[in-house]
Amino acid sequence: MRIGVLTGGGDCPGLNAVIHAAVKKGIIHYGDQFVGFLEGWRGVLENKTVPLTLEKVDGILEKGGTILRTSRTNVRKIEGGIEKCVQVLRANKLDALIAIGGDDTQSVTNALIQAGVPGVGVPKTIDNDLNGTDVCFGFDTAVMIATEAVDRLHTTAESHERVIVCEVMGRDAGWIALTAGVAGGAHVVLVPEKPIDLEHVCAILKHNYDHGKKYGIVVVAEGAKLPDSGAQATKGNKVDSFGHAQLSGIGEHLAEEIEKKTGYETRSVNLGHTQRGGTPTAYDRMLATRYGLAAIDLVHQGKFGRLVVLRGTKIEDIPLAEAIAKNRTVDDSFLEIISGLEPKL
Ligand code: F6P
Repeated sequence: MRIGVLTGGGDCPGLNAVIHAAVKKGIIHYGDQFVGFLEGWRGVLENKTVPLTLEKVDGILEKGGTILRTSRTNVRKIEGGIEKCVQVLRANKLDALIAIGGDDTQSVTNALIQAGVPGVGVPKTIDNDLNGTDVCFGFDTAVMIATEAVDRLHTTAESHERVIVCEVMGRDAGWIALTAGVAGGAHVVLVPEKPIDLEHVCAILKHNYDHGKKYGIVVVAEGAKLPDSGAQATKGNKVDSFGHAQLSGIGEHLAEEIEKKTGYETRSVNLGHTQRGGTPTAYDRMLATRYGLAAIDLVHQGKFGRLVVLRGTKIEDIPLAEAIAKNRTVDDSFLEIISGLEPKL
C-alpha cells in the first residue's frame, strides 16, 4: 500500500517514535511505501511531501519534536480546504492516511474521512485530554519535566521563605497540574475543572506557615479560570485557526493576589514550552511505538475512521468521531487526591 503520514497541532515528545514504528513495520512486514506530509495539514493543502524510507526513520525514535514538522492549520476553516486535501491525497495515489494529532488535528481527519479519505488516527497531546484513551503519548514526558521543576522549586522557595506559583500546560484539562503537583508535593494544586477559591488557597498557605512550613508551592494549570472573572488568562486577543487563545498569566496573577492577601513574598514561574521539548521518556517511546504499530495494522485491516487508543494495558481502537466528541477532563475521583492531601482548616 501507499500510505501518507502527518503530524499536526502542537508538537509532542514521541511523535517521531510513532513515525518510526509505523514506517518500519509497514515497509518490512507489509511492503508499504510512505509519503510524509510536512507541517501538518498545511503540507497536505500545499502538497509538501517527503518520502519516508527506512533510512529516513533510522535513529529518530528517541528524538523529540517531529521530523515532519507541524502546524495548527484548520482545513475546515479554509474555503474548499477539504476538497483540496482530497485532491492532493488522490494525486499522491495514497491508499491510506495516518494522522498523528490531538482533537483539532483529528477533527480534520474526521472531516476527510467523511469526504471518502481512508484515514486512521493516533492520539497525541501532552495535555492528555483526548477522549477514549487512557493515555496520550507525550503526557508522561511533560509530567516528568514539570515534576522535576516542582522538586527544584521547593528548595529555593524554602530557602527564601517564599511562595512560588508554577504554571504548567493544560488548556482544558488539569492532568499535568494534577500529576506533577501531587508527585512534586505541591501544597496547592489548581486545575481548570474546579473554580479557584483564593481565600481557600491563602488559608492553606497560612496554615502551613503557622505550623512551621514557612514556604509554599502552588501548581496551576494554564487553563484554570481567574478567580475574579472566571475567564482564562490569555496573552493578547489573538486566536489560532481552531479558535484557541494563547493561554498564559494565571500563575503571575495568582502570585500577585497571594502576596497581597497573605503578605508572603511570592514569585511565579511559567514552564511553558519546556514541557513539550526534548527527548521522550521510555514510557512515551514505548506507547508511541505501540500506537505506530497498531495504526499500520489498522490500515491493513481496512479499519478506517478509527483511532488507536490505550485501554488499561491494551492497545485498542475506537471510532475517531468518539474521540473528538468531548475532552477527557479530570474527574471527581482525581480531584479527591488533591483535597485528600490538603490540611484540615
Ligand atoms: O498541545 C497542547 C498545548 O501544549 C497546550 O497545553 C497549550 O495551551 C498549547 O498547546 C500551546 O500551543 P502553542 O505551541 O501553539 O503555543
